[in-house]
Amino acid sequence: MSTASTPASAAGTDVVLRVRDLCRHYSAKGGLLRPATTVRALNGVSFELKRGRTLAVVGESGCGKSTLARQLTLIEPPTSGDMELAGVTLSSASDAEKKRLRTQVQIVFQNPYGSLNPRLKIAEQLAEPLVINTPLSAPERRERVREMMRVVGLRPEHDQRYPHMFSGGQRQRIAIARAMMLKPPVLIADEPTSALDVSIQAQVLNLFMDLQKELGTAYVFISHNLSVVRHVAHDVMVMYLGQTVETGPRDVLYGQPQHPYTRALLSATPSVNATERRVRIAIEGELPSPLNPPSGCAFHPRCPLANARCKTERPVLMPSNGAHVACHAVQEGRTSA
Ligand SMILES: Nc1ncnc2c1ncn2[C@@H]1O[C@H](COP(=O)(O)OP(=O)(O)OP(=O)(O)O)[C@@H](O)[C@H]1O
Ligand code: SF4
Ligand SMILES: [Mg+2]
Repeated sequence: MSTASTPASAAGTDVVLRVRDLCRHYSAKGGLLRPATTVRALNGVSFELKRGRTLAVVGESGCGKSTLARQLTLIEPPTSGDMELAGVTLSSASDAEKKRLRTQVQIVFQNPYGSLNPRLKIAEQLAEPLVINTPLSAPERRERVREMMRVVGLRPEHDQRYPHMFSGGQRQRIAIARAMMLKPPVLIADEPTSALDVSIQAQVLNLFMDLQKELGTAYVFISHNLSVVRHVAHDVMVMYLGQTVETGPRDVLYGQPQHPYTRALLSATPSVNATERRVRIAIEGELPSPLNPPSGCAFHPRCPLANARCKTERPVLMPSNGAHVACHAVQEGRTSA
């Protein structure tokens, strides 16, 4: 399997999204006796994504996944770093180019209620992006809406209904249809199946995969669920406290996880394959606050392999056995502290 997204992969003509050292810091107000501080929610993430490929982003709650999603969809400007979307570099884009770029990347959220207007009929909500961004006439828009409803598995004759008249799974299909109306080259999906019944999740995941095959859309797919990620991803990026700790092709990451954090995450995931059953590795303690991240390797207070170097020196992502890993122990070939 070819690699769709590694920090050092060669520039290809089919790269639709390139992200370089992206950071997003928030200032947190201090209290009476506390000074204002900085939350380093995203702290230097880089990757490339090619047409028709899926990069899954995984990591514990609070590691910066949704912050990354907001930068990629231009909802917020990054504190530093840059990105190139559909061939345009964000930092040097004019206002008109930025407006066009916003149509090139769309997002699907966990809760479709958040992105659907309860007071507008489905036909109106799906036509909205066409009204704003295309010269299509009203009958042409209606036809496009009905066609997209068919593509996502909804009945076109239901286009005059309101969101509350659909089930949770159907509402997520509407949200996906809305995001796909302008056929964007890149779609960000932030936990898109986490709020759905397990029986519905597989149908919605298959819809994502069918749409990708048909339209060639590239996905950044954010999920807590490593079984779901294994099903949909071509490549996986593991984040810890706003940084990438390991990234590589799915089969390399699942077959031979290298970073102690990736190994612990995967050891906690039930495997369907008996030969792959892993010894469960417990991660001690809580995710530290991004207000005051640990020195050196941010994972060191919880890592069974941490030594003195880990407490002072931040490891950088380096190629290792088909993936890229940020860990001194991996780079030194060390298996104990
Ligand atoms: N606007 C903001 N102001 C201050 N801190 C923020 C803001 N947005 C996010 N954060 C902080 O940044 C960190 C990363 O948050 P983020 O929502 O990106 O995590 P996440 O990986 O998406 O978590 P989850 O899996 O729970 O959705 C958290 O510590 C969060 O509290
Ligand atoms: S750099 Fe050190 S602390 Fe960080 S994951 Fe590797 S061994 Fe553990
Ligand atoms: Mg989130």
